[in-house]
Amino acid sequence: MSFDAELELLVRARYPVLYIVTGEELRALDLLGEVARRRNKKLHEWSCSAGLVPAGTNIQSRKPANPATRDPLVALDHVLELVDPALFVFKDLHAFLNRSQPAVVRRLKDIALHLKHSLKTLVILSPVLDIPPELEKEITVLHLPLPDTAELGALLDQIVGELQARREVAVDLDEAGRARLLQAASGLSLAEAENVFARIIVQDGRLSGDDVNAVFAEKRQIVRKSGLLEYCAHEEHFGRVGGLGLLKDWLTKRGAAFTPEARAFGLSVPRGVLLLGVQGCGKSLCAKAVSALWQLPLLRFDMGRMFAGLVGSSEENMRRAIALAEGIAPAVLWVDEIDKAFAGTHGSGSSDGGTAARVLGTFLTWLSEKTAPVFVVATANEISNLPPELLRKGRLDEIFFVDLPAPGERREILRVHVARRGRNPDHYDVAVLAEAAVDFSGAELEEAINSALYDAYHAGTEVTTDHILASIQSTVPLARTMDEQIRRLRHWAEGRARRASAADPLPAGGEADAGATD
Ligand SMILES: Nc1ncnc2c1ncn2[C@@H]1O[C@H](COP(=O)(O)OP(=O)(O)OP(=O)(O)O)[C@@H](O)[C@H]1O
Ligand SMILES: [Mg+2]
Repeated sequence: MSFDAELELLVRARYPVLYIVTGEELRALDLLGEVARRRNKKLHEWSCSAGLVPAGTNIQSRKPANPATRDPLVALDHVLELVDPALFVFKDLHAFLNRSQPAVVRRLKDIALHLKHSLKTLVILSPVLDIPPELEKEITVLHLPLPDTAELGALLDQIVGELQARREVAVDLDEAGRARLLQAASGLSLAEAENVFARIIVQDGRLSGDDVNAVFAEKRQIVRKSGLLEYCAHEEHFGRVGGLGLLKDWLTKRGAAFTPEARAFGLSVPRGVLLLGVQGCGKSLCAKAVSALWQLPLLRFDMGRMFAGLVGSSEENMRRAIALAEGIAPAVLWVDEIDKAFAGTHGSGSSDGGTAARVLGTFLTWLSEKTAPVFVVATANEISNLPPELLRKGRLDEIFFVDLPAPGERREILRVHVARRGRNPDHYDVAVLAEAAVDFSGAELEEAINSALYDAYHAGTEVTTDHILASIQSTVPLARTMDEQIRRLRHWAEGRARRASAADPLPAGGEADAGATD
């Protein structure tokens, strides 16, 4: 059912208090205005600055209206007193619905009982969902979805129509160009889309299908502002990832599925992977390399930031991030360290009234229901925090276990990093180095090369195998101190996850050269 239809149905069925979660206040008011018109009801608006006024009253004439109703208690009393069928839209009410304002909460509860037997409906508009438990039973929650292409299309047609009437700009928009613009604008709110279209027109004096780049640029801005998603540059590629052959193979095959030909062949769009494994072994690196491999934009979803409270941890924010990612699709959505986000959602640590759990629930639901070509790459190094729902088949295509590199892989990784520092790998005895670096992670191998470079530079010579060997020998790899944790991970992954590399699993403690790769 469409949002409008559901809204109207609830009004007709006399649901007393509706709570619409949206960042688009004006659009919601427009929709409510239409419902009011169709149902032959009056529309009143309340805000804490203007008090209760008939909808559509402009700001200047609001002042004298009824200043006493700025107080939410007085305004709610008015709702009781007015007798005509009406919708009362309360814009800032959520700020008053908390423990410090018990009277407001109580009054709203009383009013809800009364409204059930009247032709009046109270509607709360808010960008966040925040309902005190006392009111949960009386309030019905609706989420206003972002505008669909039809709504964006209507907006575009309206702008184009006005422009053509004034003959001020050249509009050169065929069916295909229009479709491209609308596709590019999906994920934007109506106001944002209007701004972009207007800006393009003002800047170039024309509007055509070629303006999609301007729309994408705007989206980039919005992505940045939202604070939840971040565009990452394509700085890594699989040439720089040593080992992990099975994972690379799997990803290479899946990449083809994003082409129209593959879709026509019947391949379904891959949903995503979870890369689970030991610290510093290339999980984040692979996430970055996938997007380069597939030539898709990479969006990093910073769950940690959201749960650290740096940006509002709300379902609305999560929904917004998802909508933006879908609006950018096809794209790779990288959810780094997803285990950290889940850590706060259970146990005694959760003190936020279940918000984190709800936000993650929104994410998980999207994962299993999504149809847009957004490929999720999630990384984690702890399984105990991960909810079983995430690990269930169907949410993601595959779980890969990224272990410490086998000897052959260590050689590859050493070669990668020697080459990255402008040296010819053939001039180094990587076999000896790999042999010495038992239990080293990729990050530690890289660090050994780095510090060898320092030593050589300090000594005023070129870096040699001996420098690197010395720095390997002076390093105690993390895996030794984290032995227990790694064993646990391996045990869990056994039979549950695919191995990311072809090399045999390492026997804990010592090892034999699996003889793989180079
Ligand atoms: N397989 C590898 N090939 C080449 N370089 C590697 C590899 N693994 C790790 N590295 C180097 O180590 C750095 C850190 O690795 P990365 O951030 O990908 O580890 P991670 O698995 O995400 O670890 P964490 O669990 O701590 O997040 C990389 O930027 C890269 O330079
Ligand atoms: Mg990482």
